Amino acid sequence: MTEPRRVEHQMTDKGYVPVYTTAVIAQPWSQYSAADHAVWGQLFRRQREILRDRACPEFLASIDALGMGDAQIPKFDDINRLLLEATGWKLIAVEGLLPELTFFEHLAAREFPVTWWIRRADQIDYIAEPDLFHDLFGHVPLLMNPVFADYMQAYGAGGVRASTFGNEPLANLTRLYWYTVEFGLINTPQGLRIYGAGILSSKGESIHCLESEVPNRIGFDVQRVMQTRYRIDSFQKTYFVIDGFEQLFQATVDPDFGPIYYRMKGAEPIPAATVLDSDRAFQRGSGAGWSNDGDV
Ligand code: PHE
Ligand code: CO
Repeated sequence: MTEPRRVEHQMTDKGYVPVYTTAVIAQPWSQYSAADHAVWGQLFRRQREILRDRACPEFLASIDALGMGDAQIPKFDDINRLLLEATGWKLIAVEGLLPELTFFEHLAAREFPVTWWIRRADQIDYIAEPDLFHDLFGHVPLLMNPVFADYMQAYGAGGVRASTFGNEPLANLTRLYWYTVEFGLINTPQGLRIYGAGILSSKGESIHCLESEVPNRIGFDVQRVMQTRYRIDSFQKTYFVIDGFEQLFQATVDPDFGPIYYRMKGAEPIPAATVLDSDRAFQRGSGAGWSNDGDV
């Protein structure tokens, strides 16, 4: 087999250009260096501690159930035995970002793509693209939850379908993924907790999203979310809060999005910072330090 590549974005005179790859490879576990395992260990210990009272209980329980620890980078084969048994999901190792449709197709087949390589020690606090720590630590534990597992598969199938409708439905669906799977908060009897992988794999945002006065925290509404722009280069201005995974499932999987996309056609997207009168606001953010441009 050819050596797996480490596919990363390119910086050009036109700025950041993502690079896509579709190869599915075998995790080259024996090729990880001592430094790679040390980066995993450092990130794992730090996030496990920060997330103790911040991540949703389903996430924390699954970290333990999957046997993830700080000693070494987990082997995908070991994770897969437990994951397949629990919810029928399976990790596949990839070299970097996948094209959108390929990504949807894997999710629809209950295959979760995980980048095989981990960030370098000088990228501990921030890396622009998903690496092994984000994909494996951030995303995989919740695939042990039956409701969330079904949501992810349905999302993939919905993505395949949306891509036949055009760019606007796809943009709507991408916003839904962003504000749930990547940056979602969940309301629990103990208070707000994190379930989004983009937060779970970030030290700074794990604290910011729950404790800062700056961002908005707004009750989840599927159409509202699909209209809302987001940030990729800074902490989110707004987080959407679900009441539970059942609510998320019922609001997204059950309805046919066809008529919803049609109704939303041509509507002006809502800026990331905006709070509407119709929103159920857990917190209206102070917005301190926000710039007006940069929403995507
Ligand atoms: N119900 C959506 C549709 O009809 C599919 C979907 C499921 C979208 C889950 C997002 C999340 O297209
Ligand atoms: Co992610």
